[in-house]
Order: sequence, then C-alpha cells, then structure tokens
Amino acid sequence: MTDAATLPARVPTPRHYLMCPPRYFAVEYAINPWMDPSRPVDAERALDQWARLRDAFRGLGHTVEEVEPQPGLPDMVFAANSATVIDGRVLGARFRAPQRAAEAEHFRRWFVEHGYRDITMPRQINEAEGDLAWTGRLLLAGTGFRTDPGAHAEAQEALGVPVVSLRLVDPRYYHLDTALFVLSEATDTAPAQIAYYPEAFSRGSQRVLARLFPGAVLADAADAECFGLNAVSDGRNVVLPVEATALAGRLAERGYQPVFVDISELRKAGGGPKCCTCEIRK
Ligand code: ARG
Repeated sequence: MTDAATLPARVPTPRHYLMCPPRYFAVEYAINPWMDPSRPVDAERALDQWARLRDAFRGLGHTVEEVEPQPGLPDMVFAANSATVIDGRVLGARFRAPQRAAEAEHFRRWFVEHGYRDITMPRQINEAEGDLAWTGRLLLAGTGFRTDPGAHAEAQEALGVPVVSLRLVDPRYYHLDTALFVLSEATDTAPAQIAYYPEAFSRGSQRVLARLFPGAVLADAADAECFGLNAVSDGRNVVLPVEATALAGRLAERGYQPVFVDISELRKAGGGPKCCTCEIRK
C-alpha cells in the first residue's frame, strides 16, 4: 500500500499567495465556537507561527505577498476570507460579522494597487476562500453559517466558473475550508482530488460530494477537530497542522508529502494554515 513504487507521482505547481501578518491578532469577540475572549492569546507566538507558515510556503518555492495589517482588525490574518482570485479575476468579500467588515476594503485596495483590473465586490455575504474552493473545473461553495447561497450565483457570474453549492451543518465547521480542501486540481488527464469531513455537510451535500469525487480522501472527526482539513496543497506538498498526523498518514499513502506547521495560537480564533492563505491564480 505504501510501497513508494506504487504511489502516483504528485507534481507540485508553483503558487502565489497573499497573506497578512497577525500584528494586531487577538481574540476580542466570539463569532465562531472556537473563539473564547476570556482565554489568553500569545500574540508574539501567533506572529512567530505565522512567519513559519509563510516561510514554509517560500521554502516550497511559492511566492508570498503581504498585506499591511490594520489595528482594530484582529482577524485580518485570515486572508483567505477576503478574496477569491481565478484567472486574474478578483471577487472580494462581504463579511457577516460587523467586526470584520472593514477587512474587505483593505484587501480590495491591495488588489487595485497591485494592478488587478477585474475586481468585483459582492453584494451578498461572501467570505471568499473561507467558503469557496477551486478544483480547477468547479468552484465548490459552502453556505449555512457565513456565505449566503445567493453569493454562490454572484461568484459564478463574476468569475465565470461553474459553482456547486454545499451546505455546512456543524457550527464548528462554519467555513467550507474547515471541512474540505483541494489536494490537486483537475488537469486534462486527471480529475481533481479533494479531502473532506463528510459529517460537516448535509446529507444532500454529502451525496453531491460522493458523486463528484468518488476518489476523495475522507477525514474523520479527529482529523477535523485539529483543523487538519484547513490545509494548503500545491499538488504534492500539503501544509497542515502538526496534530493532523492520522490524516497526514492517509495523504502520504496517496503520494502527498505532509508539511507540518504549529498553528495553536491562530486556532484560538478558529483558524489554521488555509485561513491565513489567499491564493492568487493568475
Ligand atoms: N475568527 C475568524 C472568523 O470567525 C476566523 C476565520 C477563519 N478563516 C477561514 N478561512 N476559515 O471569521
């Protein structure tokens, strides 16, 4: 099973990420079940963990750009929530929580200043890659806690990609990217491969996922609880939380290379590696 000779060769592709250092990181409000404002957060440690995540991406040969963090926006480190970029088209964000609303404009401005011309700001609540996952063919779109179902149709129009709506049902997995990630995008010769935690989805959405991705890696409750599905894959290397050893083992059996990072401080806000990482697809 784990005989190296029988493993499919996984080919990494260079990625372009946008991240935001957690200089003003804190847990000052609770907008998901992971956040407890009475529990102390080590801001220094959060910055260090974030820097290691960024350096892990750079070490894998990826490009990382940084947005300037803003005081008073403690969740701005979760850059994945602020834009979805496919073929150089940018779909911005509209946050559900008023505490995060101002983040969207800081990111929009970054894209304007960096020469992006096709930028759409959503009218419906849209927490970007928190709820939208690109498989290379389809945009998987979560709803139930944050992103409005109407935002899925808006995303389809703005980005010109087919959208598949999926319903999340467990408040701990309030964003799609806490319950599902894309391991490798579809190519002309191979379908996309994903990993997901079925129980985070409604029965109907579980059937949709099983139909679309019969070869998916299925995660269990323990994998999901440590934010193992909040992972970032380049097609070969999968950056995931250090606690996600069981999931990492199953990924390795499929030829992926786990890359562990410690995100213990960021998890206190309900975030992990993927939440910190907005992918720019040119
Ligand atoms: N505290 C943030 C929130 O609840 C965490 C966001 C995590 N981001 C993500 N892509 N799942 O909005």
